[in-house]
Amino acid sequence: MSDNSERIIRKIGIIGGTGKEGKGLAYRWARAGYSISIGSRQAEKAQAAAAEILQLLGGEAAVEGMTNPEVAASCDVLVLTVPFSAHVDTLNQLREPLRGKILIDVTVPLVPPRVTKVQMPPAGSAAQEAQQILGPEVEVLAAFQNISYEHLLQDEPVDCDVLVCGGSKNGRSIVLKLVQAAGLTGWDAGPIENAVVVEGMTSILIGINKRHGVASAGIKITGVPR
Ligand SMILES: NC(=O)c1ccc[n+]([C@@H]2O[C@H](COP(=O)([O-])OP(=O)(O)OC[C@H]3O[C@@H](n4cnc5c(N)ncnc54)[C@H](OP(=O)(O)O)[C@@H]3O)[C@@H](O)[C@H]2O)c1
Repeated sequence: MSDNSERIIRKIGIIGGTGKEGKGLAYRWARAGYSISIGSRQAEKAQAAAAEILQLLGGEAAVEGMTNPEVAASCDVLVLTVPFSAHVDTLNQLREPLRGKILIDVTVPLVPPRVTKVQMPPAGSAAQEAQQILGPEVEVLAAFQNISYEHLLQDEPVDCDVLVCGGSKNGRSIVLKLVQAAGLTGWDAGPIENAVVVEGMTSILIGINKRHGVASAGIKITGVPR
């Protein structure tokens, strides 16, 4: 695993960034001044998503759209926001360009139709599956699984915390800075083995959404001074 302690992040690539969660994160980070590359299987779709975010920000941002392999090759920090059904294939296709980089995996291993039931893959979690596929040359971290996109594509403060696990301590501190830049509170949640809890929590939150007729239940850490 590479030493990322001195890395200064200016540009973030989002694989599958044309979807709901990816666009929400892109909006938040572009608003905070980061350069964003949105990735898609189709360059035109990525360019349209980039134009949409630029318009939301009144043209005052650095957002571009390109194919997923181009994004993986041109950014040092990548975020993966694809449905779990596309997780393995997408990672297998991007193994080479992701070498030596940080990957923030936002994927939740939901298995429709029973999305309110926790169903982890054999690797233990989606993040561990990513680490297995990509090998030790990629630093895989898990974050944002409990943040509904509905929170991200607006400017109000978000009353929901982000648990960050996986990678090295330095990697987690880089991701925690990105969490803060997105306007959220993040917590170092330890090693990648803990991703099972964070990813699994999403199914519980979706169940609470359904039972209470809301769209974006979340979690908050209490008992620690902020
Ligand atoms: N939505 C939320 O509120 C939320 C919250 C937390 C975590 N998550 C997790 O974040 C991930 C993305 O969620 P989302 O709601 O943004 O999903 P989404 O809108 O359904 O899809 C995201 C993007 O993934 C790409 N994609 C779809 N099918 C694919 C396939 N078969 N192969 C490769 N790429 C494919 C598409 O991009 P192109 O067609 O442009 O390639 C799509 O725009 C999921 O794992 C989800 O569980 C979502």
